[in-house]
Amino acid sequence: MKNTKVICFANNKGGSGKSTTCSNVGCAMAQTGSRVLMVDGDMQLNLSLSFFSEDEVLAFAMGEKNLYQAVRAQKDLSEYVVNTPYENLDLIPSSTLMSSIEYELFTKWQRELILKKCLENIKNSGEYDYILIDAPPTLGGWVMNILCASDEVIIPVEATPWGLFGLANMFDFLNEVKQIAPDLRLMGVAITKVDTRKNYFRQTLETLKEMEGIYLFESYIRVDSSIEWAQDNSAPVVAYKKNSRSAKEYMALAEEVMKLGSR
Ligand SMILES: Nc1ncnc2c1ncn2[C@@H]1O[C@H](COP(=O)(O)OP(=O)(O)O)[C@@H](O)[C@H]1O
Ligand SMILES: [Mg+2]
Repeated sequence: MKNTKVICFANNKGGSGKSTTCSNVGCAMAQTGSRVLMVDGDMQLNLSLSFFSEDEVLAFAMGEKNLYQAVRAQKDLSEYVVNTPYENLDLIPSSTLMSSIEYELFTKWQRELILKKCLENIKNSGEYDYILIDAPPTLGGWVMNILCASDEVIIPVEATPWGLFGLANMFDFLNEVKQIAPDLRLMGVAITKVDTRKNYFRQTLETLKEMEGIYLFESYIRVDSSIEWAQDNSAPVVAYKKNSRSAKEYMALAEEVMKLGSR
């Protein structure tokens, strides 16, 4: 039986493209025939909004079938899966109540490992090839849970000075997490929202290339308004506008992730 690979998208800098990248890589993987479960770990509900309308997402968030309810009760996540409109692609929706998840976890035994335990049955069932988790823009106990539940982490980075500045914090945090999750691997850094007309992008690229021992994905994602149109229509761009530049770029990134994920 094929192993299920758990990959999370994390970066404490907000707006770096985590949710956009998670939804599009997941949808692209599903289009190539992989079975994918996506887990929305952020109270902003952006991953859920990539697949469902606002009304549907709010209904999940206010009901019982969401990640917050599962994690606080330490339930097996199999019960919380919803099918998306796309073949091979399922989702565990989030809740705005995720804002208090740190508080809920605080008194729990082995609190860093709760999400990992909630995912154990799904992972071991082999039902999915990939489980992709979208992390919130924080670095605390909940993101530690997400990282401890993952085999690999991808860091989406925006090609700006502050985007690079935040990376150092992220690397420090990963080193801390590795003390309790020694098998966690940094799959790579993916550059998003690139404006190739700006020289600054070239400088960012050079800086990132020089980072020793850190893989920089060859496929980067350029700024493209199709992404916003797709999100406005509750769809990932790889499904909404397959011929757009960003859809092609995300398909290429997903291929790279699948290649590295099969190591
Ligand atoms: N390649 C892109 N081109 C244009 N807009 C983008 C692109 N990638 C992301 N965005 C926009 O940037 C914002 C932040 O992206 P998002 O994926 O939500 O980041 P994060 O999850 O890291 O906070 C969103 O409004 C999204 O629509
Ligand atoms: Mg997000």
